[in-house]
Amino acid sequence: MTVRKRIGVLISGRGANMAALIEAAENPAYPAEIALVVSNRPEAAGLERAVKSGIATAVVDHKPFGQDREAFERAIDAVLREHDIELLCLAGFMRLLTPWLVDTWAGRMINIHPALLPAFKGLNTHARALEAGVRLHGATVHYVTHDMDGGPIIAQAAVPVLTGDDAETLANRVLDAERVLYPLALDLVASGRASLEGGRVNISEAMEPRAPLIWPI
Ligand code: GAR
Repeated sequence: MTVRKRIGVLISGRGANMAALIEAAENPAYPAEIALVVSNRPEAAGLERAVKSGIATAVVDHKPFGQDREAFERAIDAVLREHDIELLCLAGFMRLLTPWLVDTWAGRMINIHPALLPAFKGLNTHARALEAGVRLHGATVHYVTHDMDGGPIIAQAAVPVLTGDDAETLANRVLDAERVLYPLALDLVASGRASLEGGRVNISEAMEPRAPLIWPI
C-alpha cells in the first residue's frame, strides 16, 4: 500500500477548491489524504463542508493577532504540527504570508491562483483579464515562495474568455477548471512526480500534451 501524504488545507471562505481536494482524496489510490482544514475566518463555509467529510478542522482567527502576522502564522503552524501535516495547500486563503511561514514550509506549500501566471498576479484577476482583452484565462498551481504568486509553476488550466463574459461568469468558468486542476497538481506533488529542481518544477512521467487550446476558432 502506498503511504499517503498528510495534507493540511488553508482556507478563508467557500472552499470549493478544498472540496475538490477532499473528493479526490476519497479515492484510496490517491497519494494524499486531507488530514486537516484550517480557516482564518470562523464563518468560512468550507469548514462545514470539511466537517461533513469527517475531516479535522481548526480556526485560527487572524484578528486577535492584529498586525503581528508572524504570530498568527506561528499559531497556524502549531496546529499543522499537532496533526503531523506534511504538505500544505492554500485554497482561497486570503492572507499575505510572511517570510517566516514561507521559509518554514519551503518546498512543502502550494497555492492555486486564479490566472495563467505570470499574468495577473494579485487580486481581481478576472476583471483584469477582461480589461486586458486576453482570449485565454485560467488557473495556476505553484509552489509558494517569497515572490507573491511567483513561485515555480506545477500545473495550469486554460479556459476561453467568451463574448459577454463579466468577472463573475469568467470566475465561475475558471473555478470549474480549478476544481479539476488542483487535485491533479496535488497528485503530482504528493506522488513525487513533480519535483523542484533549480527553481523550476520537473515533472516525470508526464502524458503527451493534448491538442493546443485555440480560441477563438
Ligand atoms: C479561487 O478562485 C482561488 O483560486 C482564489 O480564490 C478562490 C477561492 O475559492 N484564490 C486567490 O485569489 C488567492 N489569492 P474557494 O474558496 O471556493 O476555493
